[in-house]
Amino acid sequence: MRREFFGAGADTSWNKKRLEEGCAGFRHHEVDIRDRAKILDLVREIRPDAIVHAAAQPSHELAAARPFDDFDVNAGGTLNLLEAARRACPEVPFIHMSTNKVYGDIPNRPKLVEQAKRWDYADPEYRDGIKETLPIDNSMHSLFGASKVAADVMVQEYGRYFQMPSCCLRAGCLTGPNHSGVELHGFLSYLIRCNLEGKTYKIFGYQGKQVRDNIHSYDVTQFIRCFIEAPRYGEVYNLGGGRDNSISILEAFTLIKEISGKEMSHEYVDQNRKGDHICYISNLSKIKAHYPNWKITKDLKETFREIYEAWRRRQRLDD
Ligand SMILES: NC(=O)c1ccc[n+]([C@@H]2O[C@H](COP(=O)([O-])OP(=O)(O)OC[C@H]3O[C@@H](n4cnc5c(N)ncnc54)[C@H](O)[C@@H]3O)[C@@H](O)[C@H]2O)c1
Repeated sequence: MRREFFGAGADTSWNKKRLEEGCAGFRHHEVDIRDRAKILDLVREIRPDAIVHAAAQPSHELAAARPFDDFDVNAGGTLNLLEAARRACPEVPFIHMSTNKVYGDIPNRPKLVEQAKRWDYADPEYRDGIKETLPIDNSMHSLFGASKVAADVMVQEYGRYFQMPSCCLRAGCLTGPNHSGVELHGFLSYLIRCNLEGKTYKIFGYQGKQVRDNIHSYDVTQFIRCFIEAPRYGEVYNLGGGRDNSISILEAFTLIKEISGKEMSHEYVDQNRKGDHICYISNLSKIKAHYPNWKITKDLKETFREIYEAWRRRQRLDD
C-alpha cells in the first residue's frame, strides 16, 4: 500500500523479502487492514502474544487528496484491529503507533526564539519538550492528524472501557536504515538519500530552521519490548529522540555533509506545510518514569551514518 500511496520509491516489499529470508519465524499475511472480516479471521486464527499496530496512511498531503482512504486505513483499520483483539485475545498488549500530529498545531503556540540554525522554545518550561498533558483539540491537525486522533482515542477507550493492555505511542520522527523515505514522508531518510544522489531537497518554510526529534527504529522496538513485558492500560506516551536527538533541517545538512563529504543541494519554498510544527521535541519524562529500563541508545550521528550506509547498499544492489 505504501507503493500505491507514494510511488515506486516508497515500496517496502524489498524489506518484507529481507525479513522472510533472514528472520526465522517471520510470516507475512497479505491482508488489507480495511478488510474487517479478514482481520477478524486472521487475529482469531493466529491468537498473537502481542499486537504492534503500525499500518497507516502516514502523510498530511495525501490525506487531503484521498480523505476516504486516509480515514478508512487510519481510523477504520485501527478499530478493526482493536475489535479483532477484543474478540480473540483481549489480554494481550496492543501497541498503537500514534503520532505527535494528534496535538495538531498546538505545539506551535509556546513562544519560540529564532537562532542561527534552528527554532527553539523560549520558555524553560518547554526545554525538555512537549508533554502528554498538552490538549489535542481546538487546533488544526490536517486530515491525517484528525484520522490519527480518532485512532488514538479509540485505543485509549479500549484500554479503559474494556481493560485491554494498550498504549498509544505519539511519535516524533521515527527512522532508521530500513526506512523507504520519500518527499512526502520520512524526512531524514529522504534528506540523506537526496544528499547521496545529488538531488535537490525542497525546504518548505520556517527558513529551514524547523526542528524535529528523531528516534532510531531500534530504540522504538526496545520500548515496545518493555511495554509487552509490563503492559499498562490505555496509556499515551510521547516517543521521540528527545532534545539530544533533535535537529533542524539546516543542521541536518551540516551533519550529512560531515558524513558524506557532499554539499547538500537545496531549494527554499517560502510556504510552510499547513499545520506543520515549527519546533517539536518529545518530552520523555513520562515514558522514562513508567519504564526506567528504557533509554535512547542511538544518537543522531549513528542514525545518520546507518541510514547513509543503507542507501548506499541499496543503490549498489540496484546497479
Ligand atoms: N516515521 C515517522 O516518522 C512516524 C512518525 C509518527 C508516527 N508514525 C506512525 O508509525 C506508523 C508506521 O509509520 P512508518 O513511518 O513506518 O510508515 P510506513 O508508510 O512505512 O508504514 C505504514 C505501513 O502500513 C502499510 N499499510 C498502509 N495501508 C495499509 C492497509 N490498508 N492495510 C495494511 N497495511 C497498510 C503500508 O504498506 C506500510 O508498510 C504509522 O502509524 C505512522 O503514522 C510514524
